[in-house]
Amino acid sequence: MDRLFTTVLLLGAAFTHGATLHGPRGFNSTCTQIAQAVSSASTVSWPSSDLYNQDIAHWSLAGIEASACSVEPGTPSDVGKILQIVGANRTPFAVKGGGHATNPGFSSTTGVQIAMSKFSDVKYNAQTQTVDVGAGLVWEKVYEVLEPLGRNVVGGRTTGVGVAGFTLGGGYSWLTNQYGLSSDNVAAFELVLPSGQVKSVTQSSNPDLFFALRGGYNNFGIVTKFTLKTYPQGQVWGGQLTIGGDHLTEFHTALAKFSDNTDPKAQLLAPVIYVQAFGGPIVNLLLFYDGPTPPAGIFDDFLAIPNLAKDISTRSFLSIVGASMANTTEGSRDIFEFVPNTKYTPQFFQAVVNESLFWGQRLSNTSSTTSTFVYEPFLPTIFNHASASAYPFNRARAFLPSNLNFVWTSSADDLILQDAIRQSGKRLAEVAANDSADAATASIYGNYALFGTSVQRLYGSNLPRLRAIKATIRSPEYHESLLGAGRFECVDLDYSPLYTHYH
Ligand SMILES: Cc1cc2nc3c(=O)[nH]c(=O)nc-3n(C[C@H](O)[C@H](O)[C@H](O)COP(=O)(O)OP(=O)(O)OC[C@H]3O[C@@H](n4cnc5c(N)ncnc54)[C@H](O)[C@@H]3O)c2cc1C
Ligand SMILES: *[C@@H]1O[C@H](CO)[C@@H](O)[C@H](O)[C@H]1NC(C)=O
Ligand SMILES: *[C@@H]1O[C@H](CO)[C@@H](O)[C@H](O)[C@H]1NC(C)=O
Ligand SMILES: *[C@@H]1O[C@H](CO)[C@@H](O)[C@H](O)[C@H]1NC(C)=O
Ligand SMILES: *[C@@H]1O[C@H](CO)[C@@H](O)[C@H](O)[C@H]1NC(C)=O
Ligand SMILES: *[C@@H]1O[C@H](CO)[C@@H](O)[C@H](O)[C@H]1NC(C)=O
Repeated sequence: MDRLFTTVLLLGAAFTHGATLHGPRGFNSTCTQIAQAVSSASTVSWPSSDLYNQDIAHWSLAGIEASACSVEPGTPSDVGKILQIVGANRTPFAVKGGGHATNPGFSSTTGVQIAMSKFSDVKYNAQTQTVDVGAGLVWEKVYEVLEPLGRNVVGGRTTGVGVAGFTLGGGYSWLTNQYGLSSDNVAAFELVLPSGQVKSVTQSSNPDLFFALRGGYNNFGIVTKFTLKTYPQGQVWGGQLTIGGDHLTEFHTALAKFSDNTDPKAQLLAPVIYVQAFGGPIVNLLLFYDGPTPPAGIFDDFLAIPNLAKDISTRSFLSIVGASMANTTEGSRDIFEFVPNTKYTPQFFQAVVNESLFWGQRLSNTSSTTSTFVYEPFLPTIFNHASASAYPFNRARAFLPSNLNFVWTSSADDLILQDAIRQSGKRLAEVAANDSADAATASIYGNYALFGTSVQRLYGSNLPRLRAIKATIRSPEYHESLLGAGRFECVDLDYSPLYTHYH
């Protein structure tokens, strides 16, 4: 009785809160104000228009929220006006780059959806060997411009992934063994502060913000442009290799050996995918070598395993990025979870196989289509390429950014699948921590972490400095707005657990 009463009260409070302060009508008047304030370079759209649908779209259908309106700002100064209005009205908002975040509320909102798609310029500067990249781009658009120039950037490994979220969170690339994370290769950010001020942030102009933006996502403002270092790029070797579930042991033996490889040009991505349609797992490897032919030995053990499909050749960088099947789950519901790993052990391999079979079978009576564990071996030296940054908070050693990725089709199963991936992630993290105490204190990679991950695990010893930096960028009115709903979402330093639903 008591509990029922409390529930009714809470529901009532939430409803009143929603309807009067932040309800659709309140949000809509913020939208109208934005439409009146911005220049003709920007576009505001209302529900059900094509542009609105495009603006709120996400790679994972489970990542979408129906916003009151959407806005595509066309200039940094309009971004500033939008931030001032949502701040003053305490209207929740979200910033979307490529829309590949799978956690609802990270780049989606029931308030004002800001879509950065108009920031789409790519401009190479031969003198500085850097490239200016708009915050609304996906990586393959950048590669398309650089490839004919024989240059490349440290960016996404598959099609469709946005430059903005990837770089602001860290960014594990095919070139990371050689040059570090994407965020380690930023020369400058063009940042719009919550006050509306537009700032160019570099290591020398503003060391604190430069530190904070490299891993701090949307906590410090909206980035409109990235200036990225470039490197020479020629032909590469690799592509897709699919191995059946009856060869998991040989695959794991080859993977264990590959993990000791020291050639920074060699990399791979190894998803173990339980496919409901097959009733079992397969391995869908992506192999990569930064050169026309890999030295003998590095990938031979994988290539010797009987395969179901193989698309491996000497090719352009763009072609290898297009070769992945990462966009085939587009249009499904999808969620990620991070598993901190310092090394792969036989116990860990066993646990992955067990988890794959366990959840594959357990979820067979749901709309689950695939449940995947992804091995991402990197060299222990990948964090030696740059100075301190928000992510990772510990550069003393590399952590393998292992991750889980579950896919399903029915929204009725959202909670079941989110709970399943949380449980599986927890179980594998326990095994990893049992293998190495360091795994228990690893920097969690926000771009793979499930919502609800504690801010302490994401930023660790960096947290006090990040909070202090965040305090300096708030204008008085923005500080006020932070008390309400009009604050940056995603990894919010002011709240723990970080993630808040605005349903
Ligand atoms: C198919 C697929 C492949 C992937 N491959 C890799 C990989 O190889 N390596 C890797 O490291 N990660 C990978 N990821 C994870 C990827 O890094 C994250 O999903 C990343 O956030 C995507 O960036 P986005 O711009 O597309 O995301 P969005 O969903 O648009 O944004 C993600 C976060 O960044 C914030 N943000 C976006 N734009 C701005 C801006 N202009 N200013 C301030 N904040 C902003 C958003 O508010 C949100 O919090 C992959 C994800 C998918 C789905
Ligand atoms: C929101 O405002 C727009 C334009 O001001 C108007 O056309 C629309 O009907 C309003 N929507 C709601 C739900 O009030
Ligand atoms: C995936 O991306 C590639 C490269 O951009 C494209 O050619 C292909 O049609 C896409 N596939 C799907 C299913 O969307
Ligand atoms: C297999 O996984 C399930 C689910 O995490 C767990 O309960 C069980 O103990 C595991 N079995 C082994 C042998 O590891
Ligand atoms: C699926 O089966 C499990 C038992 O394995 C059960 O607990 C669960 O409720 C079932 N889920 C659905 C959606 O039927
Ligand atoms: C941890 O390791 C010990 C010893 O190898 C083993 O007995 C135990 O089952 C392991 N626990 C987990 C959670 O893997």
